[in-house]
Amino acid sequence: MAPRLVAAPLCRMNPTIIVTTSRRSSQELWRQAEQWAQRLGARAVARQGSLAHLCEQYDADGVLTITDDRLVYREPASGLEYFFHPGMAKVRIHNIEAGRGDPMIAAMQLRPGDELLDCTVGRASDAIVAAYVADPQGRILGLEKVPVIAQLTIHGLATYEDSSRKVTELLRRIEVVQADYNDYLPTCATASFDIVYFDPVFHEPVEKSEPMKPLRALADKATVTAEALQQALRVARRRVVIKQRYGTPLWDQLGITQVLSSSSSRIEYGIAEP
Ligand SMILES: C[S@@+](CC[C@H](N)C(=O)[O-])C[C@H]1O[C@@H](n2cnc3c(N)ncnc32)[C@H](O)[C@@H]1O
Repeated sequence: MAPRLVAAPLCRMNPTIIVTTSRRSSQELWRQAEQWAQRLGARAVARQGSLAHLCEQYDADGVLTITDDRLVYREPASGLEYFFHPGMAKVRIHNIEAGRGDPMIAAMQLRPGDELLDCTVGRASDAIVAAYVADPQGRILGLEKVPVIAQLTIHGLATYEDSSRKVTELLRRIEVVQADYNDYLPTCATASFDIVYFDPVFHEPVEKSEPMKPLRALADKATVTAEALQQALRVARRRVVIKQRYGTPLWDQLGITQVLSSSSSRIEYGIAEP
């Protein structure tokens, strides 16, 4: 029997990245490209020809393109395209306002004024919903390990203008640090956040979730370890919440017995209390 062809995974842990500008560059765009190159530990290169050609020429996996109105990261070989967007946050805020609630907020029991450490902030959709509930008196701090995700989220939260002013204000309230939570959690004081949250990449994706594909491809896919949970329980005043796909073996692995399932989706939230 002929061997089955398996598609190569889209993501390498540390893709080699170059930074370039749109074809119509300017001194200002080039200055920004150089700044981005510094942030990402990458090389800024002049735009010549297609992005695929540029990646080949510089032996790069991906290229961040700076234009007057957009920042897009692309990996031409796989067709991956990634940019900052608040995702489903607006729909979820609308659900809360309409009294339908939100399963993540229910699992966290998040309240106005709360301080949340989101250890896996990604594109910050969950963090935006949390910022809505926590109010300006609360604090949302997100951590992200993968540099291109972290830097695009930091930039997006600071500059993205949503059609709703209220949503734009929520973005501005979220702080993001480029860090591995395994390194960051031990530096946090004991009981310094009300809630500590993890949304690690599911081992099996939820098929419907097309918009998650580029983030999933770029993300660090390690799972939450017992050591990380122990640190999170030290840092949390009230609870640690972990999001997983239904049927995950993680609850058994971590000894988590309190699980909140959402009837309408295949998502579960594991809850541990200090
Ligand atoms: C499923 S995504 C989270 C999506 C996020 N909740 C949102 O609303 O956009 C998981 C994210 O956690 C990041 N991540 C994984 N391990 C990490 C670690 N040890 N430290 C910090 N970030 C990590 C991944 O790179 C990825 O961006």
